[in-house]
Amino acid sequence: LGKPWNFAEETDSTNDWAKREAGKGAPNGAVFLVRNQTKGKGRRGRSWADPKGSGLAMSLLLRPDMAPERAPMMTVLMGLSAAQAVADVTGKEALIKWPNDLVMSGKKLCGILTEMSMQGTKIAYVVIGIGINLTVEKFPEEIKDKATSLKLECGEAPDVERMAAAVLERFEQNYESFLAAGDLSPFKEEYDRLLANRGREVKVLEKERELVGTCLGIDEAGELLVQTPGGECKTVFAGEVSVRGL
Ligand code: BTN
Repeated sequence: LGKPWNFAEETDSTNDWAKREAGKGAPNGAVFLVRNQTKGKGRRGRSWADPKGSGLAMSLLLRPDMAPERAPMMTVLMGLSAAQAVADVTGKEALIKWPNDLVMSGKKLCGILTEMSMQGTKIAYVVIGIGINLTVEKFPEEIKDKATSLKLECGEAPDVERMAAAVLERFEQNYESFLAAGDLSPFKEEYDRLLANRGREVKVLEKERELVGTCLGIDEAGELLVQTPGGECKTVFAGEVSVRGL
């Protein structure tokens, strides 16, 4: 992974950049890294605010030969890889807010946006975009109580290239084990240890259901296991869901 390593001073969104290049035949493993992202995208059509040069904005293009249903596992894998990379670089532990975010001191540090394109019934490509707040010290009013950065948490932040390399190094190793195992079973234990909501009451909002229960961890497919008050164990697929602590 990381070949080619595409770097630009500025682009709209690294995910959109990666998708444009994917359409022109960019290979599996291509990385798109930018200093200044002007139109960063978040999940659910939201924007990802990226004050100039203050964060990591990177997208990885993958062309896995696997069923599209398994694509969400790669988001889960990137979340774990990012948490490991943050610990590698800063020595501080970030927790994972399944399926997409990393938090420190209960505030969001990192977001992941995975987009997939299909060719017939197969995956044409997957773009995994990751944003990590590095040097931001002042967030916009509406997110200031919910967001944090490595600078705020650790006193200093690594530069973009170092953070990017650390994330990719971890993801590359993990991706190999994931492909070999065929699922996330090799990572379950570590993931559960880093899971912010584990053992706590959560409310999961999926398209058509709302589920309240105790978060138990993930299963080998990367789905969240939630035990309902009635004692039943339900699995939540890492699609379009939002998880709240209660
Ligand atoms: C979220 O938390 O809603 C996901 C945020 C994802 C942000 C990253 S920054 C790099 C990549 N390019 C984008 O436009 N978005 C992702």
